[in-house]
Amino acid sequence: MRDRLIVALDTDDSEEIDWLSRTLIDIVRWFKMGFQAFSTLGTEAFPWFSGSGHKVFLDLKFHDIPNTVARDVGMMTKHGAHMINMHASGGFEMMQSARKSAENAAAENNIPMPILLGVTVLTSIDEDGFQQNFGSERQLTKQVVYFAQLAQEAGLSGVVASPLEIEPIRRACGDDFIIVTPGIRPTWASRGDQRRITTPAEAIDRGANYIVVGRPIIAADEPLAAAEMILEEMRGA
Ligand code: C5P
Repeated sequence: MRDRLIVALDTDDSEEIDWLSRTLIDIVRWFKMGFQAFSTLGTEAFPWFSGSGHKVFLDLKFHDIPNTVARDVGMMTKHGAHMINMHASGGFEMMQSARKSAENAAAENNIPMPILLGVTVLTSIDEDGFQQNFGSERQLTKQVVYFAQLAQEAGLSGVVASPLEIEPIRRACGDDFIIVTPGIRPTWASRGDQRRITTPAEAIDRGANYIVVGRPIIAADEPLAAAEMILEEMRGA
């Protein structure tokens, strides 16, 4: 389970990042860097984490024209990010160009291909919010599955989605497709702005390959104890 928990280092405070990663380093394999951590640590963090046997999920959710995203993803592959995501709503061509660029960068630099993920619909958006914000009559789950299939056809390895959508995505995209789920809340944690949530055990039961947990660990009084409780819950699934 240690390989399936990703801890979101959602802070721009370098001392806090340093403290959190050192505190969790023995029990957590994956750390997620969003804009906050990335703007503080930069690409130098990738070899630092790799050096101690850890992996980095670079969560910058790229969304731009195909040429730009391809260059961004190629560059981050070259620097050694192990998992990189982009908005599936950026379209088929954008995702396909990103895939080709990552492949070229990995081959040229003799490094492994990163896991490339499409972000479907953010887990902070519920059914009402989806219809209001996207002006869509479509059911949210249908939209998520549509994006997952588009990402798969474009050659991405998987998607980021809510644990509530794992089953329909598996049916549509098969067992080898990677599903990464944020929106994870143990019963003892506050839900914050997340809407489409489950507990860690439920997400594992439903078939998530990786779960992403931020505030329930990093904002806990004792992050190490919180991470241990979550891993225990995942093992019990
Ligand atoms: O603190 P919390 O556990 O809600 O953190 C979840 C993390 O996953 C955040 O860094 C958030 O940006 C990220 N994320 C998400 N929903 C997505 C993609 C990423 O919540 N669809």
